[in-house]
Amino acid sequence: METIVQVRDLQKSYGHVRAVDGVSFDIPVESCFGLLGPNGAGKTTTIEMMEGILTPSGGQVLFRGKPIDRHFKEKVGIQFQSTALPEFITVKETLEMFRAFYPDPRPMDEVIDICSLADIISRDNRKLSGGQRQRLLLALAIVPYPEIVFLDEPTTGLDPQARRNFWKLIERIRLEKTTVVLTTHYMEEAQLLCDRIAIMDHGRILELDTPENLLAKHFEGVVVRVPAGAEGNETMELVTSNLDETMKSLLAEQTNLDGLSIHKPNLEDLFIKLTGSSLRS
Ligand SMILES: Nc1ncnc2c1ncn2[C@@H]1O[C@H](COP(=O)(O)OP(=O)(O)OP(=O)(O)O)[C@@H](O)[C@H]1O
Ligand SMILES: [Mg+2]
Repeated sequence: METIVQVRDLQKSYGHVRAVDGVSFDIPVESCFGLLGPNGAGKTTTIEMMEGILTPSGGQVLFRGKPIDRHFKEKVGIQFQSTALPEFITVKETLEMFRAFYPDPRPMDEVIDICSLADIISRDNRKLSGGQRQRLLLALAIVPYPEIVFLDEPTTGLDPQARRNFWKLIERIRLEKTTVVLTTHYMEEAQLLCDRIAIMDHGRILELDTPENLLAKHFEGVVVRVPAGAEGNETMELVTSNLDETMKSLLAEQTNLDGLSIHKPNLEDLFIKLTGSSLRS
């Protein structure tokens, strides 16, 4: 498989803080790569070094086998974790302003269509809802027909419907053979969109594989969850490959089984197992 981006022993330190502490991975062309990790794990720092915005303290990023140069920015689309949009201008004016930066930008109609902006095209940027704002930011990212787009938490704060709509946009831009790199705190999103996932914590990669392989590697069986009971005992989670035996022993211990649930392990379970914290905390 052809590789579009290679990250080699990438590092970034701020004083004593090792925000990124030697990460390496390859991103195959036309794939969707997900960076997951709790707050402060180093995701934004990693992605911004890949975008050529932050200078690494060590290691390197190669784009199509070469160090990133000044032409790189014509080939990438970037959606920042937080971006100020110009105020007192409309969505359409914002797109026009942005299109003027590129010699051969995507036609306006196409951008409006892909990102479903028709309804809000004349609206002032200050009046956009969170989901509308994310759609506009993605629209700006795809203006240059990028070979690769970087999306830093594109769906944080969106309601479930807006998030699903955003996933459709990502699938749509992938049809154009665009490589996608995204960070997210939503496991469901990573599982659905990403071909491969890197789980980061404390500036390092803990695991990197396809969602299926990660789950197969770490879990055998099902997750049994017994919620905290009235007696004040804590929520208990067990992974078992012998459900029959587990249930028998829970009953023998006279555990209160009110609200018990059983599910197949998902990335959320894996995340908690690896980082000891819930993604959304
Ligand atoms: N400019 C900076 N100066 C000092 N420390 C920084 C700077 N930028 C990031 N850090 C630190 O580097 C670490 C990684 O931060 P980063 O923003 O990459 O995390 P993240 O994984 O994107 O987190 P989140 O999920 O909250 O967005 C944190 O400890 C952060 O405080
Ligand atoms: Mg971040």
